[in-house]
Amino acid sequence: MLLTPRAALPVLLLCVALGCARETTTATMTAAPLAPDVHSFARPAEARVTHVALELQADFTAHRLGGRATLTFVRRPDVRQLVLDTRGLEIRQVQDERQQPLTFRLEPPVEHLGQALVIALPASGDRVVVEYRTSPEAAALQWLTPAQTAGRIHPYLYSQGEAILTRTWIPTQDSPAIRQTYEASITVPRPLSVVMSAEMTTPNGTDAGNGLRAYKFKMDQPVPPYLIAIAAGDIAFKSLGPRTGVYTEPTMIERSAHELEDLEKMVAAAETLGGPYRWGRYDVLVLPPSFPFGGMENPRLTFATPTILAGDKSLVSLLAHELAHSWSGNLVTNATWGDFWLNEGFTTYFENRIMEALYGKDRALMLASLGRNELMREMADLPPADTKLSLDLKGRDPDIGMNAVAYEKGAALVRTIEQAVGRDRFDPWLRGYFNRHAFTSITTQEFVADLQQELIRGDTSLRDALNLPAWLDQPGLPPNAAPVQSPAFAPVEGEARRFAQGATASSLVVSGWTPQQWQHLLEQLRTVTLTPAQLRDLDATFRLSASGNSEILFAWLRVAVARQYAPAVPALERFLTAQGRRKFLRPLYEDLMQTPWGQPIARRVYAAARSSYHAVSTQTIDTIVK
Ligand code: BES
Ligand code: ZN
Repeated sequence: MLLTPRAALPVLLLCVALGCARETTTATMTAAPLAPDVHSFARPAEARVTHVALELQADFTAHRLGGRATLTFVRRPDVRQLVLDTRGLEIRQVQDERQQPLTFRLEPPVEHLGQALVIALPASGDRVVVEYRTSPEAAALQWLTPAQTAGRIHPYLYSQGEAILTRTWIPTQDSPAIRQTYEASITVPRPLSVVMSAEMTTPNGTDAGNGLRAYKFKMDQPVPPYLIAIAAGDIAFKSLGPRTGVYTEPTMIERSAHELEDLEKMVAAAETLGGPYRWGRYDVLVLPPSFPFGGMENPRLTFATPTILAGDKSLVSLLAHELAHSWSGNLVTNATWGDFWLNEGFTTYFENRIMEALYGKDRALMLASLGRNELMREMADLPPADTKLSLDLKGRDPDIGMNAVAYEKGAALVRTIEQAVGRDRFDPWLRGYFNRHAFTSITTQEFVADLQQELIRGDTSLRDALNLPAWLDQPGLPPNAAPVQSPAFAPVEGEARRFAQGATASSLVVSGWTPQQWQHLLEQLRTVTLTPAQLRDLDATFRLSASGNSEILFAWLRVAVARQYAPAVPALERFLTAQGRRKFLRPLYEDLMQTPWGQPIARRVYAAARSSYHAVSTQTIDTIVK
């Protein structure tokens, strides 16, 4: 068995549940049956993958990963099929552990989901070897040319698995409820190096002949497959503390290390709230600018956009967020994508507590307030059914749920619970919640049951005050939501009103404003009918088009696009071309496409920039611009 004792335990428990004929040491517990996952073809009650071993070679010319995935599984004794998720994979052959060929078939493709790979199993054995290669279009992977990197000399590859993209590069059961340990041996041309969301067991790689180097990894804690991640390129490392550090291209390493200098302190602050950090190291990989998200919580190695490098650490709440996922999300995972709020709502709450611990209540409240405002704006545009926390995503792309409802309505619920009982009771419950469900994937119902048993405990007035059904199954923000108001935003709103009424930019009282206050000002001004002269005054006075803070620049460009302010178009074009973060791209392209003035700009910029974006972003922007 390749598993360590810690990882083996859930497998043994599962065996109890499945009745598989294996030695079981802990026979007192049975695993709950899995909630059905409408985004996976797997039939885990019959046969379930527990470990993935990858041996892959990266071909930077053909844009393919190719090699083998050896899957270990447990099954009910009568079961003769293993069903995996794939999308766009070319399957060469499937063998059992004795290298005997196994019959397999790929089922017809289903929209969003890809194809089931159905493997006929022999009567005994618990391993299959799938020989395959990825498609050059694999949606998880982006293959960057040297020109698309900071160093401009070497190519680069990285993956993005969440929500259901891992199946485009690994044939496995791609459901967040099917946790798997993994190991990998990845071969790349020298001098490239490889990092993964796992422990590197060959720190500098080993020579693999033919100008290739092999890098080996292992992840002994069972993780949902969306957390298996890889990057390869010219990647340097700088230590930030005893268990923290930063990886990025050599030309970016000093800037990144400076921006992330509080990382070690962040881990300590997070542990105070969440309990011990269970993943060993916590490193951050700062990616090339096309990375489609702000951050991705790949275990041991958060992937982050370089757009957080503001120079003044003003955007590090994003790292607090990804770090918080080490508890909410990675330790305790949503069982299905309809329960996505369990990942993101808890994390958004936790993120804010980390920010409060490190930088104080004022900053935390400003951030929470920006989030609450975003929620109210976004909810106004969503179909009411999509503003519930618990979502029914059958037949839909799980991406639908990636909006402020999961993040900010989710966080509002957690905050409401906290305020109803006070931190003295809430904090121990939260730590207990992480411990009770550690290394499992849970549904919203299981969260409710935990809350009832461990916090509400028959207190009917508390139960009624929380009114969980209104949060989970009703649209909108329930009236009992804990209010979020930042005192530091009141003067900002005052100045926004004065400017709207004709005051000059230089007469505004802005001294000492934080980046969050600037962001709030610009979000306030987005709905105000400003004249070109006012916009010119604003930009000339505060040099917004040249802002090095991506959130401020983004908020300014939205104001400019809303007023069809032509002088900002060069800055807009630069921003849309220089980075590929979907959160920034989508609203700008959407706003542009809304007017005859903006449409040609959107089309021209997108035609030039599209090839530099990751598939996650092009998939979204294609539907807006085309
Ligand atoms: N896990 C998410 C990113 C994600 C969600 C990727 C769903 C694919 C599907 C990550 O933790 C996240 O929330 N990132 C945010 C930043 C955060 C500070 C709100 C982002 O990328 O904008
Ligand atoms: Zn998140």
